[in-house]
Amino acid sequence: MNIQNFLSQKISQAMLLSGLSENYRPQVCQSEQAKFGHYQVNSMMALAKKLNLSPIKLAKQVLEKLDLHGIAKKVEIISPGFLNIFLEPKWLALQIDNILEKNKLGVTPIKKQTIVVDYSSPNVAKEMHVGHLRSTIIGDAMVRTLEFLGHNVIRANHIGDWGTQFGMLIAFLEEKKIKNYENITLNYLEILYRKAKHAYDKDVKFAERARDYVVKLQNGDDYCRKLWKQLVHITMKQNQILYDRMNITLTSNNIMGESLYQNMMPDMVSDLRSKKLAVQSQDAVVVFLNAECNKSSELTGVIIQKKDGAYLYTTTDVACVKYRCETLHADRILYYIDSRQKQHLAQVWQIAHKAGYVPENVQLEHHMFGMMLGKDGKPFKTRTGNTIKLSDLLDEAINRATRLVLDKNPDIPKQKLKTIAEIIGIGSMKYADLAKNRTTNYIFDWDNMLSLKGNTALYIQYAYTRVLSIFRKANIDLKKRFNGSTYLSSNHSVELALNLLQFDETVKKVAHDGMPHIMCAYLYALSSKFSQFYETCQILEEKDKKIKQSYLKLAQLTAKTLKQGLTLLGIKTLDHM
Ligand code: ARG
Repeated sequence: MNIQNFLSQKISQAMLLSGLSENYRPQVCQSEQAKFGHYQVNSMMALAKKLNLSPIKLAKQVLEKLDLHGIAKKVEIISPGFLNIFLEPKWLALQIDNILEKNKLGVTPIKKQTIVVDYSSPNVAKEMHVGHLRSTIIGDAMVRTLEFLGHNVIRANHIGDWGTQFGMLIAFLEEKKIKNYENITLNYLEILYRKAKHAYDKDVKFAERARDYVVKLQNGDDYCRKLWKQLVHITMKQNQILYDRMNITLTSNNIMGESLYQNMMPDMVSDLRSKKLAVQSQDAVVVFLNAECNKSSELTGVIIQKKDGAYLYTTTDVACVKYRCETLHADRILYYIDSRQKQHLAQVWQIAHKAGYVPENVQLEHHMFGMMLGKDGKPFKTRTGNTIKLSDLLDEAINRATRLVLDKNPDIPKQKLKTIAEIIGIGSMKYADLAKNRTTNYIFDWDNMLSLKGNTALYIQYAYTRVLSIFRKANIDLKKRFNGSTYLSSNHSVELALNLLQFDETVKKVAHDGMPHIMCAYLYALSSKFSQFYETCQILEEKDKKIKQSYLKLAQLTAKTLKQGLTLLGIKTLDHM
């Protein structure tokens, strides 16, 4: 059930009946305060202005035709023209029974789209660091959400697996006669990479050899290809371990790195030239873009092919957009890349649009995010100023969670401790990131994220185990199907029911905006509502059979919703805590 859409349709009908000629789609929002009802229509003012009417008059006119019989117990008009809707508890109860019968928590169907989500995207020969954390965590919550709604989701791990660095690496491995590639760890590979880069910058001869290898690699030389594949393999094998530890759904099947688009480049550059978009300029091939991407009126030149024939990060991304539109038939492409690449993507899209690679109905969206900061408000680094490796961060999360659990329960068996610490530690770290509006920087603070109070994973995981313990105590299976209809007897149960029914709206909003913090805020509110309900409504002590059963149903739906919500965020639950 999507109450928002449902009410919006009702109001739309009333508008037509009241004589408005056009079919308007009024804005219906969840009310911010109880005194404004459960939902509020706030688009009368704008519409009245457009029609040159008084907003109150218009609201009255619509209200007269509004048929919410059995749905709302009252609808109020307040100045300057808001309609406040107070829903009927009996109707809410009916909706609760409806969604308990359905799977997917009654989430209403959507128009299925093919959605490409570009996320995580680490670079080969480098360990993943905190910079890739946000993209990985937020992107993964998004693919889970979109898939849950029924979309055809394509995970695209756009790894950095192409470029001059491979020439350097191959030349270096050659020079140092390093042969046992199978046993190279990613950590060691990164050290080799740094040394190779150093040699490249300092030694002209070495640089020449490195460039030769790049050309060989590009021309499909067997030996170079094999080595290159091995380097990619070492990197992604290590990264896969991190993905699995973090409960990230990416697999090796989702790797669609920069190399994938390289054979498209010659034709694409010719095409851009023939369309007069790309021109020769001082040995390089350049596309000149207008002011959209830079504030002044001057044209910005974007190089797409260097004088040695090499293509660039931008060229690859243009080919990549083309591929996603033409071959993958994407309806929507979401990029989870940090905000520093905003201009880069804007340029890529402008080129792709101008070249006609993006059909009109395809949406390109940069879902950018800010940085992770340390407690001092500066970019999050180790004490010695180095970037923090993702693997170290995960270890620390689990260590802290282990200490927390041991504090409360010193005699816990080892295996159990390990499982719980992983679920809590990793869950808390992911949640801390997901709960923030992604557009801003945020301060990474272990103490806050592992707290039982406030908007944390622990708070929600705990609320979930609380419901489970009620069912255990009552000796009722959590999956039990209750007969008889729900009866909402108290204010707290009405509030809880309303919240449960808003799951649909929440998932749809997350999918639309690409902002998982909306789900976090929802789950936090739901957990708090449940807590208030539980404190006032003594579920197991309740004498009235009908009321007791209704309470149990609400609790059951709360557990299902919390679990589903956390699953969409990629966070696991525990049965006991
Ligand atoms: N590998 C890049 C980096 O680490 C991120 C790639 C993002 N995706 C893209 N289509 N450009 O910065």
